[in-house]
Amino acid sequence: EWTMASYLEEAVAECRAKIGSGRVLLALSGGVDSSVAAALLQRAVGDQLTCIFVDHGLLRKDEGDQVEEVMTHQFHVDVRRVNAKDRFLSRLAGVTDPEAKRKIIGEEFIRVFEAEAKKIGAVDFLAQGTIYPDVVESGLGGESVVIKSHHNVGGLPDCVDFKDIVEPLRRLFKDEVRQLGIELGLPEQLVWRQPFPGPGLAIRVIGEITEEKLEILRDADAIFREEMALAGLDRTTSQYFAVLTSVRSVGVMGDERTYDYTLALRAVQSQDFMTATWSRLPYELLDKVSGRIVGEVKHINRIVYDITSKPPATVEWE
Ligand code: XMP
Repeated sequence: EWTMASYLEEAVAECRAKIGSGRVLLALSGGVDSSVAAALLQRAVGDQLTCIFVDHGLLRKDEGDQVEEVMTHQFHVDVRRVNAKDRFLSRLAGVTDPEAKRKIIGEEFIRVFEAEAKKIGAVDFLAQGTIYPDVVESGLGGESVVIKSHHNVGGLPDCVDFKDIVEPLRRLFKDEVRQLGIELGLPEQLVWRQPFPGPGLAIRVIGEITEEKLEILRDADAIFREEMALAGLDRTTSQYFAVLTSVRSVGVMGDERTYDYTLALRAVQSQDFMTATWSRLPYELLDKVSGRIVGEVKHINRIVYDITSKPPATVEWE
């Protein structure tokens, strides 16, 4: 009988066999996939694993601190966190094209990663938290065309000296990665975290990114996530998040005219994220989220709900 416990055992054995006494380097992103990969590798090869956590300043509220805390204190993983926010934001300044943003983030990520890896010295393996849908969507599965350049697939740092790649989650779908995370003892909160794209909030601020816009989006997104959890829909909805559209529109607050941003809420149901259906969230919930966000987050005066499925829309807006 196939269980996640037996899968874990096999995956650990497979990693051990492949890695032997070699040193492994993993890029920790703050998301579920790389966290599960780190916990799995820690179980397999212990302190032969070192993680580099490039904090690009595009993470969700409090996310970086939580991941560092869990990985360092609960799993005793050697995590090197690099605060690279200013670097990323200055390179992204004025950039509006989605693919250009993705490209810059991918490149910058590799540069920061390499600089940090140099300090660690030679490693034998580079580990990645790639999961099956990433492989297919990026066209590496051989069937599909490239829709978006996923920065965590394909672009490997070539200045980092390593012999081989380890991708322990390559055959798993998202729900299986979560089960594996629970099996490994990761906190539920981390395991049930929303799928989060490598380029982070950069592709959820439409057009030009500024620190102010990121701050607005972070606060609005946190309220949406909190209300989804309170409504008990956080685990049954495949993915949900806020998007700062950068469109401004006229509103009224008290007797004042406002001219502020429009925020979009996105929620989808999906098996594998290759197709998705927009979630029929209850109107009462949408109403509550909308009221809270316009009331609590400055510079948002209008909220819309995205009612397109994939295809023709993608899950993310960029
Ligand atoms: P799209 O927008 O392509 O998203 O329909 C499908 C799923 O992939 C996630 N996504 C990414 N994940 N790096 C990632 O690791 C990326 O560059 C990236 N772009 C999109 C998205 O959040 C959704 O779950």
